[in-house]
Amino acid sequence: MTTNPKTAIILGTGLGQLASEITDSYEFSYKDIPNFPVSTVEGHAGCLIFGKLGGKDIMAMKGRFHYYEGYNMQEVTFPIRVMHELGIETLFVSNASGGMNSEFKIGDLMIITDHINFFPEHPLHGPNFPTGPRFPDMHEAYDHKLIEKADEIAKEKNIRVMHGVYTGVQGPTFETPAEYKMYRILGGDAVGMSTVPEVIVARHSGIKVFGVSVITDLGGFDVPVEVSHEEVQEAANMAQPLMTEIMREMIKRA
Ligand code: HPA
Repeated sequence: MTTNPKTAIILGTGLGQLASEITDSYEFSYKDIPNFPVSTVEGHAGCLIFGKLGGKDIMAMKGRFHYYEGYNMQEVTFPIRVMHELGIETLFVSNASGGMNSEFKIGDLMIITDHINFFPEHPLHGPNFPTGPRFPDMHEAYDHKLIEKADEIAKEKNIRVMHGVYTGVQGPTFETPAEYKMYRILGGDAVGMSTVPEVIVARHSGIKVFGVSVITDLGGFDVPVEVSHEEVQEAANMAQPLMTEIMREMIKRA
C-alpha cells in the first residue's frame, strides 16, 4: 500500500469514532516509532493510523499527549513534528472544553477562531527549529477559509455551531469559579487542557489548522457548577455524531 497524506487529524475528545471509518488502514503503535512519547495510562496505547477517509489519504493520531500527564512540551508536540516531516499540510483537531460564553449550551460545538496560550511552558522555547521563523506570526492560527467551509457544512446539515476563542490551560484541575470568570474577562469563550501547544507547532511548521471544541460543561456564571470527568465524557459522547459529521465532510472537501 502506498499513501501520501496531506491531511492529518488528532482524534481528540468527541472524535474517537472517526477512527473506525478509516479504510485501507495501517497502524503504527507509538511504542514502535523511534523517539515517540508513549502513553502512561494503561489501556490508552496510542497509534498513528494511515489510511483513507472520504476518498482522501489521511494520517490520524489516536491518543494524544497532555501536558498535565507530565510530558514536556517537546514530547506533547513531537507528533506534529513527525506530521511535518511526512508532508502534512492541514491539521484537524478536536477537544473538550468548559464554556464561559453565556450563549453556549452543554453539547454545543465551538469552531475555534483563535486561542489564548496560558500554558506555563512554550512549545517553541529553546533554539529555533528550522521549520519556521524565530518569531512566528500567529494572526491566523486557525485558517479562516477552513472556518468558512465548516460554517457552510454546518448550515447545509443544519448543525448548530458556535464560534469562539479557546483558552489553553495546563490543568489537571478544572477551574475555580473565579478562574472561569477571569478567563472570560480575558477574552476566552471556552477553556481546556490541550490543543494550543500542537497548534503552535503546526503553525510554526506551516501546517494549516482547523479545530472544533465540544462544550462539555459551563463555568463562570453566577452559580458555580461542579464538573466531573464523567460529565465531560458524557457530553462529548452526545456531541460525537455531529462533530464527526463536520470533520468527515471537512476532510472530504479538503
Ligand atoms: N476546564 C478545563 N478543561 C476542560 C473543561 C473545563 O471546564 N471541560 C473539559 N475540559
